Amino acid sequence: TRYWAVVPAAGGGTRMNLGRPKQYVELRARTLLEWSVAPFLDLGWIDGVVLVLARNDGEYARLPLSRHPRVHTAIGGAARAESVLAGLAVVAEHSRGFRDVRVLVHDAARPCVARSDIERLRDEADERHGGLLALPLTDTLKRSQHNRSVETLDRREFWRAQTPQLFGLEALRAALRESIDAGIEVTDEASAMERAGVQPRLVRGRESNIKVTFPEDLRLADFWLARQEQ
Ligand code: C5P
Repeated sequence: TRYWAVVPAAGGGTRMNLGRPKQYVELRARTLLEWSVAPFLDLGWIDGVVLVLARNDGEYARLPLSRHPRVHTAIGGAARAESVLAGLAVVAEHSRGFRDVRVLVHDAARPCVARSDIERLRDEADERHGGLLALPLTDTLKRSQHNRSVETLDRREFWRAQTPQLFGLEALRAALRESIDAGIEVTDEASAMERAGVQPRLVRGRESNIKVTFPEDLRLADFWLARQEQ
């Protein structure tokens, strides 16, 4: 079995309102992208990392990361699924000849993922179903209509999906292509796999693995990164 990581970083990150794509916002002297990629580069069993960049990316070449021997790049597309597919094509080029290639897809905006959780995902996700880090809900879940609460759902049935998500290379490529062809917006890899009839394993992650979306999330990420350093 060969393992690769793909990190889509071709989004605009417009909800951050910081005037630059959020993956290049700095925290503790490194960009979010560098923090998000670091745990994968630290793990020797991962052959390489493919970063998917926007065509007009002007920042990546300035980072020391761009000269790392295990880091490769691809050019992203208009939708996240297209960006991931572009990254998977680069994985396929580099892993030709290997039968069982598995790929960890991780958001460039999740800088606090723990190495031990990536390893647990590897150990718990089997070849056929793959898996993803996720957390059970703690809040009560409401269905809304016009800002009114019309129903309370059984929260034991719901988890919040995180990344990384781990799947077989060719199964994931096929599933993403099918979702794109069907015109479905794919917000994570597991949703494309579910459409293909696969039930990915939910592997319990941590609260610290936040997705930095709004400016205030940076302070939270800073808190979790400081804790990791201890
Ligand atoms: O927008 P959102 O936070 O869901 O994006 C998740 C990840 O997907 C980010 O790392 C973003 O850069 C990436 N992305 C991409 N190509 C797109 C859209 C999003 O690589 N077209």
